[in-house]
Amino acid sequence: CYSSLLSIVCYSSLLSIYVSGPVEEENPEFWRAQGCDLFLCAIPPKVWALPPSQHARILKGQMHNQSGEETVMTMDTFPHAGLLKTYSVDFQIPDSSSTATAYLCGVKTNLNTVGVNAAARNGICKTQKGNEVTSILKWAKDAGKSVGIVTTTRASRKWYSDADMPASAKKEGCTDISQNPSVDPIRVIVIHELCFSMTQRDGRHLISDWQKMKVGKVARYVWNRTDFDAVDPDTTDYLMALFEPGDLRFDVERDPTMDPSIAETTEKAIHQCLWVTSSVSFPVCVSGGRIDQGHHASRASMALHETVAFDNAVAKGLELTNEEETLTLVTADHSHAFTFNGYPFRGQSILGKSPLYGKDMLPYTTLMYGNGPGYKVVDNKRPDIRNVDTQSKDYVQLSAVPLDTETHGGEDVAVLARGPMAHLFHGVQEQSYLAHAMAYAGCVGRDLRHCESRPQHTNTQRILVTTTDDDRNSAPSQVSSISLVTALLAAVLH
Ligand SMILES: *[C@@H]1O[C@H](CO)[C@@H](O)[C@H](O)[C@H]1NC(C)=O
Ligand SMILES: *[C@@H]1O[C@H](CO)[C@@H](O)[C@H](O)[C@H]1NC(C)=O
Ligand SMILES: [Zn+2]
Repeated sequence: CYSSLLSIVCYSSLLSIYVSGPVEEENPEFWRAQGCDLFLCAIPPKVWALPPSQHARILKGQMHNQSGEETVMTMDTFPHAGLLKTYSVDFQIPDSSSTATAYLCGVKTNLNTVGVNAAARNGICKTQKGNEVTSILKWAKDAGKSVGIVTTTRASRKWYSDADMPASAKKEGCTDISQNPSVDPIRVIVIHELCFSMTQRDGRHLISDWQKMKVGKVARYVWNRTDFDAVDPDTTDYLMALFEPGDLRFDVERDPTMDPSIAETTEKAIHQCLWVTSSVSFPVCVSGGRIDQGHHASRASMALHETVAFDNAVAKGLELTNEEETLTLVTADHSHAFTFNGYPFRGQSILGKSPLYGKDMLPYTTLMYGNGPGYKVVDNKRPDIRNVDTQSKDYVQLSAVPLDTETHGGEDVAVLARGPMAHLFHGVQEQSYLAHAMAYAGCVGRDLRHCESRPQHTNTQRILVTTTDDDRNSAPSQVSSISLVTALLAAVLH
């Protein structure tokens, strides 16, 4: 998710053939212009939230001994919804780096590239230079807002530092995550990662470099729960928390004495960004990246439990913010080759089996994958799972095609919205629209003309709030205080 904000990383190409998209799409203005036009014609109808995660909703209910289908997840309560088209410039089905560039930078790009426009070629480092694009976190920082990032995965799955980067890549002009100046604006980084290779960069120490960059500020780095809990946002300007040597463990396998949950890290990030700047907008990006990894491993139980943990983080975000002044979004970066099928009975375990058998006289699970590690043939037939506990956390759901790791899917993803300007998130849009709509709502980015007419509108909301909450200061100087919490049901790079 956030690597696009942190870094411009060239990946070595996984693909031996180069595929290119339409040439006009290599110009970032192509995507930016779409964003702007869409604003001008955005007529805000009310759309009720589409369920982005039916399976996790049922699981959440069943974890509370309910039937499940009728359960209301926190994200189900968002009043506005839209759909986003996720294709990348060169592929029908995207990876997470191209989608992150779309929803955070507002520009669609090529597969396996991040923070660059589509004129940059996957794996050809020399095409990086001059094609960099900036993200909404940078725009927010430039507008004096504080920003934060929370995720359950590593920051990047390739190079952690210059030390890991092949000499040829460096010579060609690739830069590493730690060199990117856009690291600087980020007030809280809560990444479940303690990446030791990250600590060496040209003989220097990344974490101490990060601390040195914050001249005259209190910049704290923590790696365990005790220190994390002890961080006081009142006396801390910047916080970096890295908990595990790689990705965080799945939430159901987490050691709560060592690692906080995603809801707890979200709470800390919001406090940190909110306390420091009080009434100024604060984009906080929360990413449940392990959901994606659960699906890649075709362990539906893990993916669904991670989604429930993510929903709890969304609930924490809503609890700590105010709907009148905080825009909250929930979206996914892309879909998976995941299917919810058969005719299971009402209330049947979401991780269970269809009551009706296939033509081969064998049962099948409600959740399956189109491809992935779950492909199996036993005696020329699908495996017999009648005596298999498919609800076990380690169960790997069947798939039709054998692959080591299940692929992403190409379906549109939902975006759910709540709070001021939530009506902008409606209809079927390009995924790159999201960055422009967030910038519009938060009054950051390149085109702020509409913000001149905003104060009155925002004031109205403020006065409304003041009548219900006497503690609230409705001074006109606070008109820009629409806060922005972006919760991303997203995966990180891979
Ligand atoms: C659900 O039911 C089981 C078995 O009756 C019980 O052990 C468990 O505590 C219940 N869980 C909740 C959340 O009510
Ligand atoms: C947490 O980190 C601090 C700083 O490195 C260390 O002093 C402390 O012993 C650690 N606590 C635990 C429980 O590992
Ligand atoms: Zn993925």
